[in-house]
Amino acid sequence: MTEHQRAVETEPDVRMLFRRDLGGTRPIFIGVLKGAAVFQCDLARATPLEVELDFLSVSSYGAGTVSSGTARLVHDLRSDIRGRHVVMCEGVVDSGLTVSFLLDLLRARGPASLRVATLLDKVPCRKVHVPVDYAGWKIGSEFVIGYGLDANERFRNLPYVGVLEEA
Ligand code: IMP
Ligand code: MG
Repeated sequence: MTEHQRAVETEPDVRMLFRRDLGGTRPIFIGVLKGAAVFQCDLARATPLEVELDFLSVSSYGAGTVSSGTARLVHDLRSDIRGRHVVMCEGVVDSGLTVSFLLDLLRARGPASLRVATLLDKVPCRKVHVPVDYAGWKIGSEFVIGYGLDANERFRNLPYVGVLEEA
């Protein structure tokens, strides 16, 4: 088991937080494709509640490793989130622009609550403030891969998170 699996699967704080914040509800975990998919599913398995899964997709980075700063919705949810408790799952929050864009979009649909869970939080890279409710790990500005995260579509299935080194 990797450190990150340990963090999401057995971390008592996360279980406790989810129970405290969402106990008695049937939340929808929304994965921001594709990077969040592995984390979202591990988080769902670790959550001691019945949860629904849905997905959306945005394009923001293209193939590069630096944010283009623009987000665009390319695949929308199937679910109606009005009145529902929503946890948006991200692989990594970097500038915060993607999450900020999605929070605005989802908030306008009238969920009962809207929270952000991310595997990794690149705290020093933030350009806009976003409320991160659950972060597996806080990291620096390094470009990370694995556990769902890619560099140009590669490395998503690595079972651990690594720092990308240029060859
Ligand atoms: P933000 O809009 O700058 O916060 O960027 C968020 C998105 O950028 C994430 O959903 C990732 O797809 C991508 N991203 C940012 N940093 C990394 C990284 O270190 N590795 C892989 N993808 C990243
Ligand atoms: Mg990517």
